[in-house]
Amino acid sequence: MKYSCLLAFAIILSTAQPGNCLAEDDSSDVYSRRVIPLLRAPGGSSCQECHFSGIELSDFLTGDESKTFARLRDSGWIDLRQPQQSKLLTFINRHSKGTSPAIKKLRQQEREALASWIAAAAKNSKLASAKSAGDIGIELDAELVRHLRSDRILERFTENIWSEMGRCINCHSPERNEKQVKEHGEQMSWIVPHDPEATLNYLRESGLIDLSEPDQSEIRTKPTGLVDHGGGPKFPIGSLSDKRFVEFLRDYAKIVNDEYSSSEQLPKPSSIRLHATENFLRLTDLPTKWADKLMRVDLYGLTDAGWSDHRIATAESWVNGKQSVWQGIMSTVSSRDQHPLQELPAGSYLAKVYVDQAERMRADPDATFAESDFVGSMEFDGDWKLGWREPKIVDSRQMKDK
Ligand code: HEC
Ligand code: HEC
Repeated sequence: MKYSCLLAFAIILSTAQPGNCLAEDDSSDVYSRRVIPLLRAPGGSSCQECHFSGIELSDFLTGDESKTFARLRDSGWIDLRQPQQSKLLTFINRHSKGTSPAIKKLRQQEREALASWIAAAAKNSKLASAKSAGDIGIELDAELVRHLRSDRILERFTENIWSEMGRCINCHSPERNEKQVKEHGEQMSWIVPHDPEATLNYLRESGLIDLSEPDQSEIRTKPTGLVDHGGGPKFPIGSLSDKRFVEFLRDYAKIVNDEYSSSEQLPKPSSIRLHATENFLRLTDLPTKWADKLMRVDLYGLTDAGWSDHRIATAESWVNGKQSVWQGIMSTVSSRDQHPLQELPAGSYLAKVYVDQAERMRADPDATFAESDFVGSMEFDGDWKLGWREPKIVDSRQMKDK
């Protein structure tokens, strides 16, 4: 390199033509020819493979080479001693298993452009004295970046919506719904089996998620019975399941519509984790005045010191007015940092029962159960079976009023 530079230099002197070596080593030329176009790339940057939004390569670059250099250097994204180990390059090199050919190509362009620019810039003595202007620095809201990452979005989808798919697969998964599809059409198969990510993408692309009015998304209005649903109502408006659907849909719409600019706007994460089991509880002989009302049952387990302080499982559903029966799928309740119980263990339980007698939640899905909705408690014990056909049956006439 040194040798060929000297040679090129000699040629320039003798011919007064710009030599190759100068063009190669001139970082500002590399910057304008290869880096600036990345700022305007219509497809965005390769970061999108994992960062749904909130981060783009262009956040790190500006139209001005020396300001960009100073800012990347001062915030640790360029390593002058080992330019090829620069943090920015290692971030560009990140990729997942299923990268699409288009992203692969884009990433290669980015990598080549920035690797040659950083190499040239590191040797450019003019840049060495460049200073970051007072107001520039890469200001990242780490919590927001995290929230907008694709894997986090998918995690929330899985926790809030995918976890309920057991109630939908019989009619909406192509593995099971041949008859339904014959009768109602191909759009019945909106579940992509075993693939929450593809399912979420389908829901969005097909408009079953309404990005302008997320509460009106059909993925929610069908199962809550807000609109006619061939499968009937699956869970009550304002119930735990509904709240989790709404929470995901509102947040997702804001992300897609690019409405977050700071982590202060993010929804507060719930302090508890719910895990749907296949344990069903049925309470029989309920008072007729509770017919068709939303009812919640919290279960407490027996510990050495008596009943547990916190509920260990919960379920919300309607009271079936015709049969005076309530049946719910129990979800275990744990704190965020605990591994959730997958099934309910055999043992003794205390059930606390709440009924939304004033139907507050039908009017406002954001309303929550209060102590004033508490109607009584009862104790029972034994083991649990799996599936709705074999619920644990408890006669509610033993309920102690509050
Ligand atoms: C293959 C997935 C993937 C790609 C592609 C990706 N990132 Fe990330 N990024 C992550 C993950 C996961 C985290 C959080 C944990 C970590 O840093 O490993 C993260 C965190 C970050 C952070 C948080 C702060 C920090 O210093 O850790 C920034 C900034 C960031 N990425 C920028 C980028 C940029 C810029 C690109 C594109 C050039 C990019 N990422 C491409 C997966 C990716
Ligand atoms: C017993 C069968 C059955 C079950 C279980 C069922 N559905 Fe449906 N669903 C239907 C039928 C039939 C239709 C078509 C008629 C209609 O649009 O209401 C439908 C339509 C839909 C549609 C509209 C699809 C489209 O593209 O038009 C959505 C969304 C939906 N259901 C959501 C759900 C959700 C969410 C669940 C689970 C919580 C569920 N369904 C459970 C039978 C069922």
